[in-house]
Amino acid sequence: MCGIVGYIGKAGAPAVLINGLKRLEYRGYDSAGLAVIDDERVVVAKSPGKVAALSDRARSEWPEERFETCTSGIAHTRWATHGPPTEANAHPHLDGSGDIALVHNGIIENYRALRARLEGKGHHFESDTDTEVLAHLIGECDKGDLFQAVCDALHQVEGTFGIAVLCSREPERVITARRGSPIVIGVGDGESIIASDASAILAHTQRVIYLDDNDIAIVTADSVEVRDLNNIPVTREIAELGFDAEAAEKGGYEHFMLKEIHEQPECLANAIRGRLDFDLGTAVLSGMGTSPRELAELDRVVIVGCGTSLHAGLVGEYAFEDLADIHAEVEQAAEFRYRNPIIGSRDMVISISQSGETADTLAAVREAVQKGAFVMSLCNVVGSTIARETGRGVYLHAGPEISVASTKAFTCQVAVLLMMALKLGRGRRFSREQGMRLAREIETIPELVERVVAQSEKIRKIAADYADAEHAFFIGRGPMYPVALEGALKLKEISYIHAEGYHAAELKHGPIALLEQGTPVIALACDIPGRDKTLGNVEECRARGARIVGIVSEGDFEVAECMDDAIYIPRCHPLVATIPTVVALQLFAYHIANIRGCEIDQPRNLAKSVTVE
Ligand code: F6R
Repeated sequence: MCGIVGYIGKAGAPAVLINGLKRLEYRGYDSAGLAVIDDERVVVAKSPGKVAALSDRARSEWPEERFETCTSGIAHTRWATHGPPTEANAHPHLDGSGDIALVHNGIIENYRALRARLEGKGHHFESDTDTEVLAHLIGECDKGDLFQAVCDALHQVEGTFGIAVLCSREPERVITARRGSPIVIGVGDGESIIASDASAILAHTQRVIYLDDNDIAIVTADSVEVRDLNNIPVTREIAELGFDAEAAEKGGYEHFMLKEIHEQPECLANAIRGRLDFDLGTAVLSGMGTSPRELAELDRVVIVGCGTSLHAGLVGEYAFEDLADIHAEVEQAAEFRYRNPIIGSRDMVISISQSGETADTLAAVREAVQKGAFVMSLCNVVGSTIARETGRGVYLHAGPEISVASTKAFTCQVAVLLMMALKLGRGRRFSREQGMRLAREIETIPELVERVVAQSEKIRKIAADYADAEHAFFIGRGPMYPVALEGALKLKEISYIHAEGYHAAELKHGPIALLEQGTPVIALACDIPGRDKTLGNVEECRARGARIVGIVSEGDFEVAECMDDAIYIPRCHPLVATIPTVVALQLFAYHIANIRGCEIDQPRNLAKSVTVE
């Protein structure tokens, strides 16, 4: 995810900004830039790649004294969303006059309409970004008072933002504001530091002001004045950070994995935002680049991926067949590439990959392209190889996933697959009313997940009773079967407990022989079709001495009574229910691994991106 740093004080701003950006590197990014005011002009340096490359460029291109004399500036690390990670797309962006510079986190949803309007007034844009549109909008609103210009522009913006704005006319102040994207201001001794997360501030001060949504602040070296977007002053207390740099990178969480589990409501909101059309009861996924007619003519959906992404694809298989009435198949990418699969021009091949770099998935993509299929990608990392080679697809917008064990990518993959299935379904048998109902269900996903994340402590207590297990089984039916596979994968990769996911009915065809007194069986038994049959399978396990942890629907006490322990998830559509269910399993695995003292973020033998076959 992108990072913001702003500085105004007595030190040389370029070095402070670059050091601040380095503190934000852990968040993941693909380009960086900074702007300072020198001799009443805004000067900008940008570079694709790492902060070190930006630093080298500024050092080689800028005069030495600029590093000493410029004492205010803004900087940014960009994780590409709109447009590839090029120098032109890197922040800061300038307004039309070049006097105003802007860095921005978040997504301006109505940027296309704003851009068209501004182009009509003669504005010319150099990047693909929504941020440059906002910079020009601020310039358009500027009548000599930067603060007022920013307020006026933000009133016209739909979407989310954390911003910092610099103007050559007002070198003694930086304007910053937020809506849905965090901004924290460090209050130092004769200096102020603005950042999107506290890790960039720690080197300067422990005293901070957190902005709330729709706050806008005028920051000088000695003062921070916070107002709302209607220019009414608001009071924000100064707080003590009370944690060190390493803890700050993890947002105060003990591990990145836990942070990423907790981030899911926000990530899912980002993945879903602007992609549901409630009037037409469909999904708006322009990156798919397909006409309704092309979709209607498809014979089949084939999904390829590896590991967690493969499991998301298996949930997608249920969604496509159930919602879109189209034949769907899922295949391990590694198998697909060598199997000489029968694929043609009426098949849509969806390649799923968080990193967009997994070698087997990439090879499967190339094979499908060769065979003339309609190839899409579902990636998280913008500009990744798979995203580029497919040319069409849907980004997850989950933000960088640092923990090797994938969590937020999985839930966003499933959410996007549901939207894809909804879109295909509307071109086939789904009525407008059915589409509208499902769109409403999908919209609630972030809130459903929030309710599971809030149970983390309760899940930790349950996990403590299972932490010394040697084996565990996860069982489920229908769309919960792939969730069982994913739950088992999470547990084995971070806790090193041998875990297997099975279709609930399959257990008695062999694996049940492994059950002993006390073997944990995690039963996905929420109130969706198949629940009663899963309960029957639970009884078979209990009869052999297994201890059962049930994932059950809120209020389903009848089922909860059959379990030794129960974790409740909110009631929702059976396909949607896969998402809160997996979040419960992620927390269960995380707490067990933590109790066992495992190396959670970097489990042994695993790499985040598997670029070899
Ligand atoms: C498990 C995990 C892996 C990845 C797999 C594919 O937690 O992260 O199983 O899902 O290596 O990676 P991507 O999605 O980047 O293609």
